[in-house]
Amino acid sequence: MQNESLNREQICASIEQTQLEQLKGLEILEVVDSTNTHMLSLAKQGMPSGTVCLAEQQTAGRGRLGREWYSPFGANIYCSLLWRFNPERADISNLSIAVAVMVLNALRQYGITQGLQLKWPNDIWFAERKLAGILLERSDASHVVIGIGINLDVSAAAQPEWIDVHEITGCAVRRNHLVGLLLNQLLLQLPRYVAEGLQPFWNDWRHHDVLLDKPIMINGGGQQQIGIACGINHLGELLLQNQSGEIEALRCGEVSARLVEETQ
Ligand code: BTN
Repeated sequence: MQNESLNREQICASIEQTQLEQLKGLEILEVVDSTNTHMLSLAKQGMPSGTVCLAEQQTAGRGRLGREWYSPFGANIYCSLLWRFNPERADISNLSIAVAVMVLNALRQYGITQGLQLKWPNDIWFAERKLAGILLERSDASHVVIGIGINLDVSAAAQPEWIDVHEITGCAVRRNHLVGLLLNQLLLQLPRYVAEGLQPFWNDWRHHDVLLDKPIMINGGGQQQIGIACGINHLGELLLQNQSGEIEALRCGEVSARLVEETQ
């Protein structure tokens, strides 16, 4: 199915006035290697906080842990937002958790009110298949590039473990509306995160945590660990009850969590 083309006016129509004032630039590209790579270079050139780049296609889209991000033309949302902050006043170590909640809220406002799930550290799932992912990158301590990919119309044959908005809703996707809702959430909630940290996002995370109380396998640093997921703490670390019954707190970084059933 052909999705509607990205359109500045239609996107901005779904952003509230106060948040529009925070949107300092909106670049819409046909093709780019990666919106994150592009935004990292704009950050070096001094572009302001609140600059956004969207693309119809990425030729070298990147996911977490060095993975490729499947990015065919017109099929999905590929979005990067530059956010600057004072590194002396803001600890953003758990920003990915808050951003996942912001993406979830945008999808809820779009109309997906049931069934959304969050998978630590920052995946959005539906029916235990991946709907969206987040990649945070920075080249110095004063800014972060928030990269978000949302699947709208991926072929299940291309990525069987993924799901998309079209499959969930059964309707043609209003891509510009969803991008507008996403930017509205980010521009509204990022200042809140900087002021208040994870606290305003914590309950939403807990309510949608797909790993909670489930057996999981952790991969990271060349090691595998099995245990029961016990949610996240206020630092955004994953709490894992290991096989000796002790609770360990794991930072995201190079660690990834999988449901044990997934691996069988
Ligand atoms: C993941 O789940 O592994 C993170 C995926 C992040 C993909 C987005 S698409 C827009 C931005 N540009 C990239 O190259 N990656 C992010």
